[in-house]
Amino acid sequence: MKNNQININNNEIKMQENDFIVSKTNAKGIITYCNEIFMHMSDYSENELLGQNHNIIRHPDMPKAAFKLAWDFISSGKEFFAYVKNLRKDGSYYWVFANITADYDSSGKIIGYTSVRRKPNDQAIKTIIPIYSKMLELEKSSGLKASVSYLLKFLEDNNVQYNDLILSLQGDL
Ligand SMILES: Cc1cc2nc3c(=O)[nH]c(=O)nc-3n(C[C@H](O)[C@H](O)[C@H](O)COP(=O)(O)O)c2cc1C
Repeated sequence: MKNNQININNNEIKMQENDFIVSKTNAKGIITYCNEIFMHMSDYSENELLGQNHNIIRHPDMPKAAFKLAWDFISSGKEFFAYVKNLRKDGSYYWVFANITADYDSSGKIIGYTSVRRKPNDQAIKTIIPIYSKMLELEKSSGLKASVSYLLKFLEDNNVQYNDLILSLQGDL
């Protein structure tokens, strides 16, 4: 099922404290592995996920700029952290605290990526929601550049690097 055919609803499914959602992709973001908890949380079977673009669980409330930043980081070999709202096959959603890292072959070439997600800190999600909605609004009214600029200005005003902000919001659960 394409995610634009899903009837989106406002039901939230929460991750459990000790859960880890894991997936791997090739260098283009095509899913090559997912664990049981990934399937359970996304409401898809392994067959429905393997070989699909990872955007199969993309939620329309997520700003494009968040993914642009993610790909800028990971394709240059830097690890990336983010709070991500994901869309389940049944139309409901779940928030995760995600980490993505690159996988290399023996010559040092990036051959894919691995993502591990944990339960996000509730307060961090409360902080991130208005930032994402402002970014989304700017993307609709003025385009991707305006949304990226807003995020960069927010980081500058708070005198913080992106990953440091995200990690500090997660804190100790
Ligand atoms: C390892 C890895 C994990 C990813 N996990 C997610 C995810 O959980 N949710 C998501 O929406 N995008 C995830 N992405 C990003 C997607 O590849 C994609 O960039 C994003 O969904 C935006 O898709 P779009 O540009 O087609 O709208 C992941 C990418 C990689 C490489």
